[in-house]
Amino acid sequence: MNTINKTTKSNDTVSIYGTSRPLLEETMQMVLGEITKIRNEMAKELGMDPIEHLLGRIKSEESMREKCRRKGLPETPESALEKIHDAIGLRVVCAFLDDVYTIRDRLLALPRIRLVEEKDYIRHVKPNGYRSFHMIIIVDEKIYAEIQLRTISMDTWAALEHHLKYKKEIGGSTALISAELKRCADELASTDSSMQTLRDMIQELH
Ligand code: GTP
Ligand code: MG
Repeated sequence: MNTINKTTKSNDTVSIYGTSRPLLEETMQMVLGEITKIRNEMAKELGMDPIEHLLGRIKSEESMREKCRRKGLPETPESALEKIHDAIGLRVVCAFLDDVYTIRDRLLALPRIRLVEEKDYIRHVKPNGYRSFHMIIIVDEKIYAEIQLRTISMDTWAALEHHLKYKKEIGGSTALISAELKRCADELASTDSSMQTLRDMIQELH
């Protein structure tokens, strides 16, 4: 049984995850394993590896505490595990657009995984140009995880935009840079769509 430590003191020697860290690690490995199985099945079907890279992380103590404070929640395991849903974060970077949706569908077909929330920033692009498919899942009705699925182009763009956000000294030229970044995001999306069409044409030949 997962025992959640309900202490409210923000003592550095007590983990924000209480005694649940091993369960978080185990759950993350389980989901990574399931994604790897899906990846292998798809590689056989497509004749190519659909995933460029796959990452998983447990949010650090400090980021989780910072997020609790930002959301006005007490720094407790209950907040970290039940109110906040991205203690486990996974990122799946695909070469092609269609594979993002295929992986989504196959993950959600698994009996231990249930969808809690999804945000399709690919079909509903953020105003700054950010594209990615996000979902919050719950594993065994107990542990939440956030999964971000995106293409290589989307990932490259997000990395640069993230970098820019932390470069405050850019100051006056920010508006121009933001507009150019948005344009790059749209061009990358157009290229992703052309690359998908090319792959479809090549698959038809076989
Ligand atoms: P939180 O309360 O922080 O979880 O916000 P939210 O639930 O509105 O988050 P959302 O699903 O929109 O985004 C979660 C994560 O996606 C962020 O922590 C980033 O990793 C990534 N993300 C979202 N928007 C952007 C963006 O505009 N640029 C970049 N680079 N990453 C983004
Ligand atoms: Mg979120």
